[in-house]
Amino acid sequence: MSILTILSTGPNILLLLYNFLSGLIILGLLRAVSRAVDLIMAHFGSSRDPEEKMRLGNSSRSPTIAGLVLEHLCPTIQNILEDGLRDHKLDLIIGQRRNHSWRVVEVSTRIGITKF
Ligand SMILES: *[C@@H]1O[C@H](CO)[C@@H](O)[C@H](O)[C@H]1NC(C)=O
Ligand SMILES: *[C@@H]1O[C@H](CO)[C@@H](O)[C@H](O)[C@H]1NC(C)=O
Repeated sequence: MSILTILSTGPNILLLLYNFLSGLIILGLLRAVSRAVDLIMAHFGSSRDPEEKMRLGNSSRSPTIAGLVLEHLCPTIQNILEDGLRDHKLDLIIGQRRNHSWRVVEVSTRIGITKF
C-alpha cells in the first residue's frame, strides 16, 4: 500500500467512523423520543373512559401530562433538532455549529422556496 493510498483512504475511514458514531447518536436521540412517547401513551392508557382521557390530557387537571410533554418529549425533540439533523460531513470540516434548531428552520424554508 503506497503512502498515497493510505492518505486517500485514511480520511475516508475517519469519515466512516464519524458517520457510524453520528448514527449511534441519532439512534439514541430517536430512542429518547420513543421512550417519551411510551410514557405519554402509558399515561393515556391508564383509562378507557373517553372523559377520563380528556381529563388526563388537560394539564390543569392532570399535571403529569404537562411534565411528560415539557420535561420528556420536548427536550428529546429539541435534541434531535439541535444535534440529530445537522450536516455531519460539513461539521467535520467546519466544526461545531451553534443554533442548530434555527438552521433546521432555515434549511426547511429553503426547501420550501425551491419547490415553487
Ligand atoms: C381543563 O381543565 C380546566 C379546569 O378544570 C378547565 O377550565 C378547562 O376548560 C379544561 N380545558 C379543556 C381544553 O378541556
Ligand atoms: C437562531 O438565530 C436566529 C438569527 O440568527 C434567531 O432569530 C433565532 O431566534 C435563533 N434561534 C435559536 C433557537 O436560538
